[in-house]
Amino acid sequence: MRRTGSLLCFAAAIGGLAIAQRPAASDSKPWWRNAVIYQIYPRSFADSNGDGVGDLNGITNHLDYLQDLGVDGIWITPFFKSPQVDFGYDISDYTDIDPQYGTLADFDRLLAEAKKRNIRVLLDFVVNHTSDRHPWFVESRSSRTNAKADWYVWRDPLPGRRPPTNWISIFGGSAWQFEPARKQDYYHAFYKEQPDLNWRNPDVRKAMYDVMRFWMKRGVAGFRLDAVPSLFEDAQLRDEPVAKPGKSSYGDPILTRQYTDNLPECNDVLREMRKVADEFADGVLVGEAYVPAVEDLAKLYGANGDELHLPMDTMFGFGALSATRYRARLLEAETQLNGGTPLLVFNNHDNPRSVSRLGDGRNTAELARMLATLLLTPRASVLLYYGEELGMANDDPKRKEDVKDIIGIKGWPQEKGRDGERKPMQWNADTNAGFSTGATTWLPVAPEYRTVNVAAETRERGSVLNYYKALLRLRKINAALRDGDFTLVNGDDPNVLSFVRRAEDGPAALIVLNCTGAPQTVAIRSMADKQGAVLLSSFAAEGDAVNPAAIQMPAYGAMVAGFEK
Ligand code: GLC
Repeated sequence: MRRTGSLLCFAAAIGGLAIAQRPAASDSKPWWRNAVIYQIYPRSFADSNGDGVGDLNGITNHLDYLQDLGVDGIWITPFFKSPQVDFGYDISDYTDIDPQYGTLADFDRLLAEAKKRNIRVLLDFVVNHTSDRHPWFVESRSSRTNAKADWYVWRDPLPGRRPPTNWISIFGGSAWQFEPARKQDYYHAFYKEQPDLNWRNPDVRKAMYDVMRFWMKRGVAGFRLDAVPSLFEDAQLRDEPVAKPGKSSYGDPILTRQYTDNLPECNDVLREMRKVADEFADGVLVGEAYVPAVEDLAKLYGANGDELHLPMDTMFGFGALSATRYRARLLEAETQLNGGTPLLVFNNHDNPRSVSRLGDGRNTAELARMLATLLLTPRASVLLYYGEELGMANDDPKRKEDVKDIIGIKGWPQEKGRDGERKPMQWNADTNAGFSTGATTWLPVAPEYRTVNVAAETRERGSVLNYYKALLRLRKINAALRDGDFTLVNGDDPNVLSFVRRAEDGPAALIVLNCTGAPQTVAIRSMADKQGAVLLSSFAAEGDAVNPAAIQMPAYGAMVAGFEK
């Protein structure tokens, strides 16, 4: 990773400039509004016992790091009992912990230690499906008459034992699996080891809401709900039409998902879940929501703001790097979410890391700092994925035999799976990047760990990590960034995105982001008569004068400037 020697003077973007800087008032807004929630993939974060797999105690051991970074909460992806076919997204007991991650006592300690540091803990609630080894499914598949017979989505096959519909699993192949004991098929939106629960059954709902209560009573702040759009399928079992010619990476026809995704009944369940979350102070529901349009995203907040608090805006962060596109998306988020708080995200355990996905292999650290600024300065809550704060790149397996994620084995070489974005956290330049003392790790560490790691970046003044820390701090103490409104400026510039955040009593922050790998000059016409000063920038020093009439931006340059009015 290349780091240029530009003037990276952001480590202390406080003090010098008094504009709009004051500590948070004892405001009454809920904790999750404007919060930064850090996603931990527990297998890959920190291994406390040397078995090569990360665990809960590993997380607890690094809470000081997260506090110092400045996050408000953590979301831990599933660590419950699981055969690990989908690395924890196939749960066989929702209220116990898989031994490879620790024990309930370890979890309680994690919670208590997080609380001491004012870090909220969110769990991943896999609502759409269980493992095929879950006792509910073991019973359900055993006959058509058992007590759990209707807990999953069972249908008769068509003549010749053909699947009931043409529906395709998101992970490839038919979404139906024949069960000889019942002479019926069950539906699975994902792997066949992940049978879909039947959310039309009130007993299923009750059991799942009790799972929520179990964890919230223990002290968790809420959940990230997995695969929300997949909860219901068409009751009439209509075949999906072909969406476009050709084949998927798994060799399947490419069908629409109009009968299997985002059915209106999902909203009924979300309203019920919200009621459960509301039984607890501070309860919050984040939702995984790959939806095609802003109207669909808006619906997930609920017509009366009574569904998800924070559905992820995956359209914003998982599309192309483009000032024009980001501008349009941010405007939509501001105006079309019925007043809901947007939840911005660039990275997670299912998508190639942003610096690799969006970059051209040059100026990677600059791109990381620009994306950090784009993520953390709009009026939004934020998800940050472990290692994103270091500028960790994707590191896909080079050979099929090294792949751990089954979709990478099924789809090789077009689909290499998700191992590349799940590599061990890079703590230092020692063996296994300080992730584990084991002889081997479940995935090998990425080769760049020697320079891209917490220890090295803590020392290096201009590092991506120190930029994130300064930005997270500025986001908390700067009134315009914390509470200000949001206005796009220079609305037609195809290369540079600029917007203003303005606090009620006047002080403003101007954010300027060069979304290209080439230098740009930008004029903010509406502010041309004003004079500001740099609060934080990837290329200019704190306190430097800013003349909005002509701002020179290096490749992927990012700047936050303060203005009195
Ligand atoms: C979600 C998870 C993904 C998992 C899938 C099935 O999309 O983020 O990792 O494979 O659900 O549970």
